[in-house]
Amino acid sequence: MHLSLSSKPTGWFHIGWSAEIPPKGVKPMKYFGQDLVAFRSEDGELAVLDAHCHHMGAHLGYGGKVEGRCIACPYHGWQWNTDGENILIPYQDHPVRKKLRKWHVVEKHELIFLWHDPAGGPPREGWEIPDIFAFEGEGFEGMAASSDDFYPCYPHAVVDKPDEAIHPQLIQENAADCMHFRYTHGAPEDPEMLWFRTNGPYWHSSIGFKSKRTKQVALRTLQKNFGVGLAFAVFDGRAPYRLVLSATPIDDTLSYLRVSYWFPKAPGAPAEMPQDIRAFDVEELFEEDARIWRHQKFVQRPIFARQDVAAYSTLRTWCAQFYEAPEEQGVIPLTQEDHA
Ligand code: FES
Ligand SMILES: [Fe+2]
Repeated sequence: MHLSLSSKPTGWFHIGWSAEIPPKGVKPMKYFGQDLVAFRSEDGELAVLDAHCHHMGAHLGYGGKVEGRCIACPYHGWQWNTDGENILIPYQDHPVRKKLRKWHVVEKHELIFLWHDPAGGPPREGWEIPDIFAFEGEGFEGMAASSDDFYPCYPHAVVDKPDEAIHPQLIQENAADCMHFRYTHGAPEDPEMLWFRTNGPYWHSSIGFKSKRTKQVALRTLQKNFGVGLAFAVFDGRAPYRLVLSATPIDDTLSYLRVSYWFPKAPGAPAEMPQDIRAFDVEELFEEDARIWRHQKFVQRPIFARQDVAAYSTLRTWCAQFYEAPEEQGVIPLTQEDHA
């Protein structure tokens, strides 16, 4: 199988939490090798545009100010609206008919997602971002919930890791890897892949941990992966929590990694997350995997153990659909290895 690990995969990617960009907020960003600016208008509309002003190229994300529905360039004050149109040149009676590229964004569960298609196409039908609360369908029985059943993830239950030398696909491959739990996460037993299936841009699977005593599945993880950069998971144990693990390519060597955790909230409990949940070390949980990923070399043709082969090879074939960009558009050199 040919697998190019381009840093320009197609799909929806996580680029932050809604609360990071309040009305009038401005944030510079870089993803897929492109300089971007995110801002929120005074009336609450979030926009992501190409960052460099069409006048003299200043970066709107460094010093740009929101005025109504527009962002004003810090250099000479030209204003660009949430559609990227030039609306005002303060010292001239008419604007220019020039637009900054507007990127598609969606806010869901207080997370911000950005659509990336290397060919510039719009978000695709049938590529809807999964709902972390409404886990439904075959294999997910009993997992449907609502946001009221959980504490909000931001700001106390998130991991925020800019500039990681980790390719997004490595976080996806974790979903097929039963044999790392004992060694990487200190699990007392090896879990089992209970089932997995693919459906277009989605990967669905479940891993089960059996009780030593009863030999019954005592804890399950249920997983919905979407594209190479997003993994939605439910830990179905005594206090079932949910998480979104995300990796968004910044350029050919770095990704932005984030984890958002939703911990269960008893009916009628105060909205504020209690101290004992806040004390849960989400950072360390992430680090257990991340300290492997940071130094891992991507092995194109691994020597599979018997337990790995079915899920791993299906997952890799499924991942290949997201690499539509021509190879010269960026292939991560550090992670390439081909024993062909
Ligand atoms: S560079 Fe933006 S207004 Fe001049
Ligand atoms: Fe892991």
